[in-house]
Amino acid sequence: MLRFETAGESHGECLVATLVGLPAGIPISLENINRELWRRQQGYGRGGRMKIESDRAEIVAGVRHSQTIGSPVAILIRNKDWENWTEALPVEDVEGAGDKRKPVTRPRPGHADLAGAIKYNFHDARYILERASARETAARVAAGALAKAFLAEFRIQVLSHVVAVGGVRLERAATWEEIVALSQKDEVLLGCVDPDVEGRMKEVVDEAYRTGDTVGGVFEVVARGVPAGLGSHATWDSRLDGRLAQAIVSMQAVKGVEVGFAADGAASFGSKVQDTIHYDRDERQFRRGANRAGGLEGGITNGQDIVVRGLLKPISTLRRPLESVDLVTREPALAAYERSDVCVVPAAGVIGEAMVALVLAQAFLEKFGGDSLDETRRNLAGYLQQVRDF
Ligand SMILES: Cc1cc2nc3c(=O)[nH]c(=O)nc-3n(C[C@H](O)[C@H](O)[C@H](O)COP(=O)(O)O)c2cc1C
Repeated sequence: MLRFETAGESHGECLVATLVGLPAGIPISLENINRELWRRQQGYGRGGRMKIESDRAEIVAGVRHSQTIGSPVAILIRNKDWENWTEALPVEDVEGAGDKRKPVTRPRPGHADLAGAIKYNFHDARYILERASARETAARVAAGALAKAFLAEFRIQVLSHVVAVGGVRLERAATWEEIVALSQKDEVLLGCVDPDVEGRMKEVVDEAYRTGDTVGGVFEVVARGVPAGLGSHATWDSRLDGRLAQAIVSMQAVKGVEVGFAADGAASFGSKVQDTIHYDRDERQFRRGANRAGGLEGGITNGQDIVVRGLLKPISTLRRPLESVDLVTREPALAAYERSDVCVVPAAGVIGEAMVALVLAQAFLEKFGGDSLDETRRNLAGYLQQVRDF
């Protein structure tokens, strides 16, 4: 069973990701992991933090001579900003440390600040926001890069693009080639495959900058090359659509998820929504009339592209702060402001890729198993033969 965990706070020493259950023999390139970390930091609308941090992964366990060895993998990503927080967030409390804290007593609506402070019994939301922050997603992306490396061995690729920023929407389907080209760019604006639509998206972000506001949107993750048969209809928690939905909604600021064209489907008649089934006798293969289901039926992959969308709310920290209440005095107060992003939809797409890759790698290993890559390959080959003979 592939498992991953992250630890680390936004202004702490570093972030940590651990991955347990990857087979031995997967080729791992630090350059590829760092490229993913770079992609997570891009996009028009990011705050000052992204200029300070230039994330780099350090693998400290589980990879030797550029390949996994079957042991747990541990990855560190250092926080460059830590040097400014050593006195505010020391590990050991020393005399006078209390005066150097940077307390947050005016919780920001839309953040974990208030709920977390009540739950963990702190009259200062600092410790809560340090962990609730999406800085944590750098560790997810690093772990996801390893899942991607594993999937790539089976020619499975996971990429993303931006479908909407605020009210500006890409009104057509993106081709796989467009999504691939986007992922290879060295400059990222808003991650939309259509330059005209992207230009209009930028205008929305500019308006948010002008007015001290923030803006959300929708990203789409597409996984290509996934074999039919991952996940299962048999139990509620083995349904892969549900597992992907949980992975996507677990992301900070993601408030909704669509598998395939769920929202359009809900507004249509059934005859317009389901993907018809055909058979190609020459190729001895089933074919589908379309892919509105997003590659999943009954919680099982059906061999088409997996298509999952995440709906991202606008960032909660506003330069024009919202009404709040001071945790200590209980007097009305404007919410705290910390340097913040204005739009993060392209970055969220990259994090979504990592989450989808991790869930797919998990489902893949559940089905095919293997302690070494060769063993996984053999198991997959046997299954694919069964599918060909079906
Ligand atoms: C890539 C990314 C970057 C984010 N950056 C910020 C930020 O700079 N400021 C902020 O207030 N929220 C930011 N968020 C959103 C918060 O982390 C999130 O809204 C908060 O943790 C509360 O969780 P919830 O919105 O899921 O309920 C970001 C989210 C993502 C995905």
